[in-house]
Amino acid sequence: MSLAVTLSKTQTGSGIRRYNEIPEVLIVTYQEIVEREQKYLLNTYARYPIAMARGKGVYLYDVEGKRYLDLLSGLGVNALGHAHPRIVKVIRDQSAKVIHLSNLYYNEYQGLLAEKLCVKSGLDRAFFSNSGTEAIEGALKLVRAAGHATGGPEKSMVIALDNSFHGRTMGALALTAQPKYRQDFEPMLEGVRFVPLNDIEALRAAMDDKVCGIVLEPIQGEGGIHVTSPEFLRACREAADQQHAALIFDEIQCGMGRTGQLFAFQHFGVMPDVVCIAKPMAAGLPMGAFLAKEDFAQHISPGKHGTTFGGGPLACRVALEYLAILEDENLLEQVRRVGEYFSQKLRELVDKFDIVVEARGVGAMQALQLSVPGKPVLEGAHANGLLINVTQDTVLRFLPPFLLQEKHVDRGVRILRKQLAALQKEHKKAAKGEAAAVTA
Ligand SMILES: Cc1ncc(COP(=O)(O)O)c(C=O)c1O
Repeated sequence: MSLAVTLSKTQTGSGIRRYNEIPEVLIVTYQEIVEREQKYLLNTYARYPIAMARGKGVYLYDVEGKRYLDLLSGLGVNALGHAHPRIVKVIRDQSAKVIHLSNLYYNEYQGLLAEKLCVKSGLDRAFFSNSGTEAIEGALKLVRAAGHATGGPEKSMVIALDNSFHGRTMGALALTAQPKYRQDFEPMLEGVRFVPLNDIEALRAAMDDKVCGIVLEPIQGEGGIHVTSPEFLRACREAADQQHAALIFDEIQCGMGRTGQLFAFQHFGVMPDVVCIAKPMAAGLPMGAFLAKEDFAQHISPGKHGTTFGGGPLACRVALEYLAILEDENLLEQVRRVGEYFSQKLRELVDKFDIVVEARGVGAMQALQLSVPGKPVLEGAHANGLLINVTQDTVLRFLPPFLLQEKHVDRGVRILRKQLAALQKEHKKAAKGEAAAVTA
């Protein structure tokens, strides 16, 4: 296996390799890539045996040139697919001007992006971070500061949902209910109460005047694509208002167009006080943000929060281009149309296979709930040039690029159908074997 990487290499007098613009081909094999990573990287990722080299539109290509239909888009990041020409052009242009300026100075694009996001969301102020988890951390600090200002230091409790996922840093982890993520990292940040999704009574029972915020994903992503009910969201809004607490929506996975609306909350008719976004917002550059109502935002003043990288001119300009492309290419309409088609095709799989229990999702955020572990389907999909994800062991998750068309759905579903048939056959055979053993 070999990968032709076009790099530019010259040898300096000191023996240090420098890369410049003289092209030269280096050969990197799949094996070399894997061995180097396994030796030098912190052992955090159980990677699949694929090394990707490049992408174009809805397709990725591995180092051997094998093509994959990408129904995962970098875990929800590459909404514009790969190598979108307008994104490539803007990155080239801006990186030749200035990539980073500290937040000691104004830059041309940060205010423009904040304005655009505030106007589109109906919220008042933005803070830019570099990831989803940092957006959550900032939002958490904001609602605690607001809580302390209105109710004293005791008003610091946050309500979150069972089965949630909000990120890996300590604050976000404290809001993440799933034990597998928290294990080994205790003690957690204090002051978090969990309630089950869509359980209005439990929510009301958990509320008191010590609560400064309620945080939830309008559609739980990592938890297996579970949609909150509008009634539950309305109850959250009401409970937050009664206690002057902030309603925080984590739209890091479901926001920025993935549901066919720019913000997922626009489907539900419930307005949050704070919304966290990230993943696709800078078309693959690391960027996150939280947007907040003035009522809460006013409690942050200079020195209370900040970041070195957040809101740099390159990321902000690319994010503006991302939003412009969504509009110019009418991509939200495409997400709604193709999402409905995808959803219908997934429902057909529920009817066809006993091991497929349910199809869930909205727009470009879909899932198939299986009654058995989904890993064999994923492995078979990879072998057949299709990228999907399994979450919660039994949920096949699809977060495709917004460029997806009906013909791509057909291709993906064809491959899935084959894998599901094989898996079902295997399970039926195993069940028959067990039954025969019992009778014998
Ligand atoms: C809903 C949600 N919140 C927060 C995060 C954390 O974002 P990041 O990985 O960018 O820190 C994720 C990541 O998957 C997410 O899906």
